[in-house]
Amino acid sequence: MYPMIVEALWFILPAYVANSIPVNVSKIKFLKKYGKPIDGGRKWLGVRILGDGKTWRGLITGIIAGILIGIIQVIIQPSVKSYLPYLPRMTIPLAVMLSIGALVGDMVASFIKRRTGFKTGDPAPLLDQLDFVFGAFFFAWLWSCFIEGRWQGVFEDMIGYDRFFVIVIITPAIHLFGNFIAWIWKLKKQPW
Ligand code: CTP
Ligand code: MG
Repeated sequence: MYPMIVEALWFILPAYVANSIPVNVSKIKFLKKYGKPIDGGRKWLGVRILGDGKTWRGLITGIIAGILIGIIQVIIQPSVKSYLPYLPRMTIPLAVMLSIGALVGDMVASFIKRRTGFKTGDPAPLLDQLDFVFGAFFFAWLWSCFIEGRWQGVFEDMIGYDRFFVIVIITPAIHLFGNFIAWIWKLKKQPW
């Protein structure tokens, strides 16, 4: 079980990093001027499209950080693989897709939250914790379908259904724990 958890986390790591960076850079002073909302403050049918919680600063720093961690993973992969022979292979295109997908997934969830009456920062259980995971998998799947021509490629070549389920099961707990720490550090207004 333990190697499987590490293997699953190895695969999803760029998405975790992409998703956790935005809140961590939100208090950095020289980035303040990039903190404009992605929706430009616009409303659709009287309600904000995404809200103030989705900024260009978060989107760009998150994607860059996710790709950087992916590059590090590609570099150290051969030595990690000697301990974990079934380690899923990280590649730079995969890290790019997982990072972009994580933040697009988070934006889609914000859009859904605004449409259904949730205010920015209101908790939407499971949606808040898994939006980025499904976004990341969807983008990885797009890559395997359209670039590699294998619609089942993400699960059969990259990670496996069992590890996918491990990620879906353990992510909500890890996400809640991470947000709690961010709240203690006063990076987040809400502890969830
Ligand atoms: N964040 C950001 N840009 C993004 C994503 C997140 O700046 N693209 C920052 C914001 O400061 C946001 C925080 O990270 O408040 C936490 O993100 P999240 O919990 O996903 O957003 P919420 O504030 O809960 O907003 P929403 O209700 O729209 O999900
Ligand atoms: Mg979110």
